Amino acid sequence: MSNAKVTLDGTDHQFPIVEGSENEVGIDIAKLRGSTGAVMLDPGYGNTGSCQSSITYIDGENGVLRYRGYPIEELAEQVSFEEVIHLLVWGELPNEERLEDLKAKLTEYAVVDEGIKKILEGFPRHAHPMAMLSSLFSAYETYYPTTGDSEEDVLRVLAGINTLAAYIYRYKEGLPYVYPSKDLDFSSNFLHMTYGSHGADPDIDEVVAKAIDKLLILHADHEQNCSASTTRMVGSAKASLYASIAAGVGALSGPLHGGANQAVLEMLRNIQEGEGDVAEYVELAKDKSSSFRLMGFGHRVYKNFDPRAKILKASADDVLDSLGLDDPLLDIARELEQVALEDEFFVKRRLYPNVDFYSGIIYRALEIPTEMFTVMFALGRVSGWVAQWQEMRNDPAFRIHRPRQIYIGENERSVPPISER
Ligand code: ACO
Repeated sequence: MSNAKVTLDGTDHQFPIVEGSENEVGIDIAKLRGSTGAVMLDPGYGNTGSCQSSITYIDGENGVLRYRGYPIEELAEQVSFEEVIHLLVWGELPNEERLEDLKAKLTEYAVVDEGIKKILEGFPRHAHPMAMLSSLFSAYETYYPTTGDSEEDVLRVLAGINTLAAYIYRYKEGLPYVYPSKDLDFSSNFLHMTYGSHGADPDIDEVVAKAIDKLLILHADHEQNCSASTTRMVGSAKASLYASIAAGVGALSGPLHGGANQAVLEMLRNIQEGEGDVAEYVELAKDKSSSFRLMGFGHRVYKNFDPRAKILKASADDVLDSLGLDDPLLDIARELEQVALEDEFFVKRRLYPNVDFYSGIIYRALEIPTEMFTVMFALGRVSGWVAQWQEMRNDPAFRIHRPRQIYIGENERSVPPISER
């Protein structure tokens, strides 16, 4: 296979075929408009490859997810989140020396300017944490003027998310901030800054720290999803890494994307509180006259199962067991999953639980407030955004992202005087 033929008004046009390392096939239509005058129309971009990438591979039909070739199942079991950060952002798993160096830098750059805290304190306490997070990343640019593509920006963002997430929590709870500790890894530092006592030595529960680390690994990257594409899009205008990450946070906050983990828990809680039982919610999700969707179900890419959901389902059991908890919401989640998986509507559309279906149960067991769930997603995903942003900026085919459209509005007309409108 070397070319694809497009026939337009009886004329044939040839376009090169591009093959990926996993035999994925793409038609390179970069010259389509130039040679035919037509553009591709693909609302929602479900058939559009926006770039060539060597970061993450997904096979949605078979439930496969790999970061730079390594299966997510192996990464979740065998390495730390810092190793995954190194893998995504610097391209390979680190040796011991590189890992120690990265850990030290992630603590060094986790200290944020006092002015950033003042900006945080200007927000109403009841504001949503994702709105605060996006604004604070924008504010980074005012405190840390950027040179463009520097490693300092990268480290500041990778480390900064940990402190910002923890400080947003502390501010909302009316608690004093806790500084990062140089003796702790990323996940333990998050727990220390979030739940530690000001001035006291860290007291970290290893089971909880391990569960957080696994969640961060599972959320770290997912190729060209809505927030990663947003981050690339903004960066393609040569906007700074900070501005691009702030935009990525905004995209992630939506309930059809990262915001779904909060929505799942709210849905389970509504069922628990008797605002409809499992069967009623399933029926409502199938009712085409209602806009309600079963939160935590369905995925643009996974049409078989979400491998992350599979890992988290097992992890939810482990975490609850080791913390000695028995969460009735987990039973409701299991029942909902069972009912939906057997229902023809969901089977036909291949709608399976996604990563957000079980993550909320674990966050809840770890006493993370529901509103903070999407921030937890961002805590992992920032590493993926940074990797995607860098790859885009270093791509020899780099161009500003600027899609076309098919205009369907009015043809040319004259402005009528106001009395005639
Ligand atoms: N509940 C009920 N019906 C659904 C659901 C759902 N959760 N998801 C999709 N459908 C139905 C649609 O109504 C549509 O039905 P139709 O063919 O009869 O019109 C069909 O399944 C296909 O749905 P699309 O919207 O075309 O699928 P798309 O790929 O655009 O959307 C999405 C994917 C946004 C994830 C969707 O499944 C959804 O809204 N899920 C709920 C929100 C959610 O859990 N989001 C988290 C995604 S994972 C992540 O971001 C980390």
